[in-house]
Amino acid sequence: MLDFLGNLERTHLCGTLRASDAGKQVVLMGWVNRRRDHGNLIFLDLRDRTGISQIVLDAELCPEGHEKGEQVRPEYVVAAVGKVRLRDNDAINPKMETGEIEIEATELRVLNDTKLAPFSPSEEAIQNEEVRLKYRYVDLRRAEMQRNFRLRHEITLAIRDCLSGLGFLEIETPILCKSTPEGARDFLVPSRVHPGEFYALPQSPQIFKQILMISGFDRYFQVARCFRDEDLRADRQLEFTQIDLEMSFPRRENVFDVVEKFMHAGFAAAGVDLPVPFPRISYDESLKQYGTDKPDLRLPGLVDVRSAFTDENLAVLQIDPALPIVAFRIPNVGELSRKEREDNHPMFDLKKGAKFIDDFKRLAKGFPESAVKVRELAGAAEADFVIIVAGDPAHHIKASDTKFPGRLSEREINVYAAAGNFRSELAKKYADRHGAFKVTEEVVEAAHTRDAKDPIDGSLAFRPIWLTDFPMFEFDVATGKWMPAHHPFTAPYEADMANLVSDPASVRADCYDLAMNGLELGSGSIRIHRKDVQKQIFASLGISDEEAHQRFGFFLDALEYGTPPHGGIALGLDRIVMLLAGAANLREVIAFPKTAKAIDLMADAPTGVTEQQLKELHLRIALKS
Ligand code: AMO
Repeated sequence: MLDFLGNLERTHLCGTLRASDAGKQVVLMGWVNRRRDHGNLIFLDLRDRTGISQIVLDAELCPEGHEKGEQVRPEYVVAAVGKVRLRDNDAINPKMETGEIEIEATELRVLNDTKLAPFSPSEEAIQNEEVRLKYRYVDLRRAEMQRNFRLRHEITLAIRDCLSGLGFLEIETPILCKSTPEGARDFLVPSRVHPGEFYALPQSPQIFKQILMISGFDRYFQVARCFRDEDLRADRQLEFTQIDLEMSFPRRENVFDVVEKFMHAGFAAAGVDLPVPFPRISYDESLKQYGTDKPDLRLPGLVDVRSAFTDENLAVLQIDPALPIVAFRIPNVGELSRKEREDNHPMFDLKKGAKFIDDFKRLAKGFPESAVKVRELAGAAEADFVIIVAGDPAHHIKASDTKFPGRLSEREINVYAAAGNFRSELAKKYADRHGAFKVTEEVVEAAHTRDAKDPIDGSLAFRPIWLTDFPMFEFDVATGKWMPAHHPFTAPYEADMANLVSDPASVRADCYDLAMNGLELGSGSIRIHRKDVQKQIFASLGISDEEAHQRFGFFLDALEYGTPPHGGIALGLDRIVMLLAGAANLREVIAFPKTAKAIDLMADAPTGVTEQQLKELHLRIALKS
């Protein structure tokens, strides 16, 4: 038989009572985490969002409560009325925050029972993620998930506070809108009122935030939900949240300053002191030094080792002398057997015309001087694993390998990228040996148990870096046209404007990315604010007036009504929280996420709809595969 709540009022939360509360009358409510039956004494660990308190049901002091205690099972919802008392010395549990006290119950009310869930929230790690997602309500009760969402709340709150303090207004923008220009696939929503017409869900608030600048709001921000129909990965969801902002009359420096301030505040809320300002690197340098535009600075980067080889060496080694020759080291891996090295080989992308040398013993036999020089240039210690990556001269050269002066060619980029990928895969594989990622885990761990008012040094654990000087255009071999590397409202550098038509390869975009620990956290730019420049960019992109008008007409109109210079950025909030929670997947920090197959297992979405609904929307399903 279940009890009613009646007029019982909760007085405290389960995780908040301490020795100093001894003697207080309390009413606690929550879920039974664990139950231990010692005959005349039954112990219930009662759990809520804040933690656990131990309830003692003594058959003599509280016979009715004791009887009910015999019936309750884990995850029953109960209310306990009683007095806080100090535990006997030998019963003190130093691992529990409430471990010095217990509640001597005078009454127990069983507010609800439960079906047996396929797993218990008191378990620490549950292997089967599908079961977790199907029973998400049970999964979210777990201490780790509760902690992640509290963290998410606190980070978001700190960022909001910070931006508000800097004069930014939070303004909501539409969810039902017109296609936005982020370049992923749109989610479409059919209109009932306008047969055959569709809204698009925003891939970001990009156009609206720019219009808000035209409207004179000066500084806008939004904790904005975005929707992109793309393939999911550990750091990608169909719906995600951006810290999105836009400013009027900014120089790039102003945007960086704002982001550094709110990132510092967000990390401080998680107990981590993030050093500012963040370092910067150009896009080309990032490719050369890390083989990627989202560098992980926690490990040493790529080193140019061309000077370790003579041309004859390169000919014998079958290395293309015209392409980059780089080495990287993974610290402290120790000597690897041939078999161990060969196990790593599938991680290397051979298809792109790069090759590698990971056998220094063999290299030292044929080319002792080169072998020594490479290790020297890479700054390698005895136990470091060193790998050389270079171009394969046998690799077929395609039309896309055209070299534009001042730009890295696709073949060069491929060599750097192959090295960069191999580096990050090996870094993951040998994480236990080099220990660089452990620092991050330790800081996350410590941050979770420390007072956020006194943040711990995160300078080695979280390594942000700004990327700048991206090229404005990418050459598309298929069409022979220069395509925008970013959304088409990104301004070129003022100094490069004159070359837009004559030398598009040399034009740099005034845009920037923020990367951290191998993840892209954010992206933004100074925007085009002049109609003539916008027209020129569209023209140089081969977008006709008609197409531009059809896609962004309302925005182009708005540009003609007194647009201030403006710029902004958006950071992935989910990714920030994922890093600070020490999680490996966004699903750990999004309450109701989709699986890799884009399914909400709990709600069972997507699903079919009724004929009637389709009819109202003027739709008919033509294909079912
Ligand atoms: P961008 O498309 O680079 O820029 O997105 C900005 C940041 O949003 C996060 N992000 C995602 N997070 C989770 N799942 C996804 N599918 C996903 N896609 C993006 C990333 C990314 O860095 N309007 C521009 C910003 C601007 O120019 O101001 C934009 O949306 O962390």
